[in-house]
Amino acid sequence: MASFKKSAKYEMTRFDISQQYTINSFKGEVSRLRDELETKELDLEAKCQALQEALEELEESRNRYAALYDFAPVGYVTIDDKGCIQEANLTGASLIGIERSQLIGMPLLVYVTKSDLKLFLDHLRRCKRRDEKVITELSLMTKNGAPIQVQLLSAPHKSTDGRSRFYKTVITDITQRKHYENELARLDRLNLVGEMAAGIGHEVRNPMTTVRGFLQLYRDKEAFAQYKDRFDLMIDELDRANSIITEFLSLAKNKTADLKAQNLNTILEHLSPLIQSDARVSDKNIHFLLEEIPYLFLDEKEIRQLILNHIRNGLEAMSPGGELTIRTFRDGQEVVLSVQDQGKGIESNVLEKIGTPFFTTKDNGTGLGLAVCYSIAARHNAVINIETSPTGTTFFVRFPVPEPPL
Ligand SMILES: Nc1ncnc2c1ncn2[C@@H]1O[C@H](COP(=O)(O)OP(=O)(O)OP(=O)(O)O)[C@@H](O)[C@H]1O
Ligand SMILES: [Mg+2]
Repeated sequence: MASFKKSAKYEMTRFDISQQYTINSFKGEVSRLRDELETKELDLEAKCQALQEALEELEESRNRYAALYDFAPVGYVTIDDKGCIQEANLTGASLIGIERSQLIGMPLLVYVTKSDLKLFLDHLRRCKRRDEKVITELSLMTKNGAPIQVQLLSAPHKSTDGRSRFYKTVITDITQRKHYENELARLDRLNLVGEMAAGIGHEVRNPMTTVRGFLQLYRDKEAFAQYKDRFDLMIDELDRANSIITEFLSLAKNKTADLKAQNLNTILEHLSPLIQSDARVSDKNIHFLLEEIPYLFLDEKEIRQLILNHIRNGLEAMSPGGELTIRTFRDGQEVVLSVQDQGKGIESNVLEKIGTPFFTTKDNGTGLGLAVCYSIAARHNAVINIETSPTGTTFFVRFPVPEPPL
């Protein structure tokens, strides 16, 4: 019995020790796992943080590129195979003057001016046929009705599945560039005619003076009394030709202006009665809005001619009852003379040729009026700008204010 007790006690002690050992090693394992978990948790947190930062950076750079895309100085549109707009940046939308959301899905063709539809269809056709960039210059119709000249540069791309094609297209507003090109071409033509004017003007006028003298002499002779009307007609025609030559001569390249310090308003005020009576004859009204402006160096005779030519064009462009507004005002370092009519505006094909000597759309016009104006403006270092719409045209003559002021 005693030995049994002893053996039982021994067994229990052994069991206790082994259990203690198991518990201890279990505890050790748990604490190791906890440490490992904590390390992993820390690691995960750090990774999470890094991921969050990378995400924010990505978002920021996406926004940066979106802003670069949207506010680029040129319009970007993506068009599909049928010419419909899939994507557009904000500049593209604002060029056409339409909300971007309204632009998506629309055929680009809708915004091309009628006269350039063929050019655009050709552009699409070339895009489809070729794998390289296609460039076309044409005009787009903006929402406010004013056309703008643009250059389309389309680069073809394939969709990721390779099944369809689309064209990334850059739209650049070249209205201003075209305007300068036209101005240069106009100046070139004017220079050429100016050289001719200087060369032949006098040569034509001299024999004409002789002919006119003889016609006048014979008209008063008894023997030709029955032809007096014919002689008068011939003399009138010669006088008309002579006045055209006088105008033509003012285009002479070497002509110098007699510039004196004076006020444009004073010249306009002196001309006012003549202008008013011109207007009354054709049942039109003239409105003067003359603001205070600085003195300029002007050749009075030439400026009178420039004003009258513009006013006559304005009056001729309007139907009876129309109102012509003549303004003078200062705009920064420029004095501006503007002549605004309520005519039907000027078509773009006419606008391109305006100022070319002898270009006229009028039955009785000589087409020298504006050529003379451009030549006078050039001698005064002034520029002429035109704004035109179907409700009227405004000619702006911009003179530089002399430095120091007069
Ligand atoms: N205010 C205007 N509104 C509409 N068209 C205009 C206007 N001014 C000029 N034009 C167009 O420009 C053309 C050229 O004008 P320009 O004054 O040079 O010659 P013209 O008026 O035809 O003849 P003229 O030599 O007798 O002045 C005109 O025939 C007309 O078509
Ligand atoms: Mg005219």
